[in-house]
Amino acid sequence: MSKDASFDLLEVQTASTQATATKKHQKTLHSAILRGPYLQQGTHSSIIIRWATNTPVQGKVLYGTAPDKLLLSATEAAATCDHTVKLQELESDTKYYYAIAHSTEILDEGFFFVTAPKQAKPTRIWVVGDSGRGNEIAAQVRDGYLKFTGTRHTDLWLMLGDNAYDTGTWDEYQRGVFEMYPQILRNSVLWTAIGNHDAGSASSEWQSGPYYELFNPPTQGEAGGIASGTAAYYSFDYGNIHFICLDSYGSDRASTGAMLSWAAEDATSSDKDWKIAFWHHPPYTKGSHDSDTEIELIEMRERALPILEAAGVDLVLSGHSHSYERSYLIDGHYGTSDTFSAEMKKDQGSGQEDKSGAYYKSSAPHAGTVYIVAGTSARADEVSPHPAMHTSLSIPGSLVIDVQGKRLDVMFVDDRGEVQDYFTMKKR
Ligand SMILES: [Fe+2]
Repeated sequence: MSKDASFDLLEVQTASTQATATKKHQKTLHSAILRGPYLQQGTHSSIIIRWATNTPVQGKVLYGTAPDKLLLSATEAAATCDHTVKLQELESDTKYYYAIAHSTEILDEGFFFVTAPKQAKPTRIWVVGDSGRGNEIAAQVRDGYLKFTGTRHTDLWLMLGDNAYDTGTWDEYQRGVFEMYPQILRNSVLWTAIGNHDAGSASSEWQSGPYYELFNPPTQGEAGGIASGTAAYYSFDYGNIHFICLDSYGSDRASTGAMLSWAAEDATSSDKDWKIAFWHHPPYTKGSHDSDTEIELIEMRERALPILEAAGVDLVLSGHSHSYERSYLIDGHYGTSDTFSAEMKKDQGSGQEDKSGAYYKSSAPHAGTVYIVAGTSARADEVSPHPAMHTSLSIPGSLVIDVQGKRLDVMFVDDRGEVQDYFTMKKR
């Protein structure tokens, strides 16, 4: 790391520009950015910045807390086309500006990120599900959210799987993710779950393929939580929130298997105010998929839910069905939809503060969880009401979660930026 890197770079650039001007017959090799920059594994003291270039170069990130003084830098060990630079020893809850470069030129600049806070702070989370079609609807849902959030920064965002259709190839990731969300990728850390379409070109067992090569989730507990030892499932903290991401497709879903054994230990050991779990295949849905008949959905419901409900998980987010389905505050529903009973509702109301009131719960085991399917970020299909659901909609959109201390607000925002459903949870 060198403190005067930007000065050095400026000198090199000037020299390079002059050389180019005086030797016009010589071609200068310039690297073009093919992908990114995008942010991964944000913690309160570190962040990973990724990008790709068309020629191998030794990547460098210039950064600092003032936009015109990028006095710090971090450089890759060797030249490559696929760049991964980890910035460390950062201050928590701090805005850093950054540029990406290589030895002779700044490739792109004018970006920023904000490190995670150590303590609770008002947090905005954006959530897209089944977003990876690279189509007009995905663009409209994105623009609907951008209109909704305005100047409010997106602190972090989640992808609930099926991030790239049809088979999660490099080209499909380029279209479905990197060309669809370029601005948000530069400034807000993305945390992803793997879906069945992503798994068309990726192996959870070997952690190979585009999904695993593109993303760097924590495997060693780098961002809080217990080390999972794999990128297929992982956890992290952000302020007073603990997130748990599971792999509902390519990893063993057995109750005593590696994933759910880890999840039980991880979810139980966190003392954060809020626990949010997310994975692709929903435990409850009557949309384009049916949780009564499909094996991944049945097994996640029967095996993961008892563990997570015992650990006091507040919110579970999934996609797969191209619908928006939001449950009541419920507990203990592990069977098919015809076994759902009124006693499983911890609150009979909507959770809407201006109607029946917010959901009010403790962090104790089995105090109630809200389950949301948010799979309409690129397509909306028909949906029937599952008895556990308070609201079922077939509208393109995405999810916004605002956490402020012991209050959590969820809004389903459509492709015009309008709120189509909302509810609030409060913690005792
Ligand atoms: Fe899916």
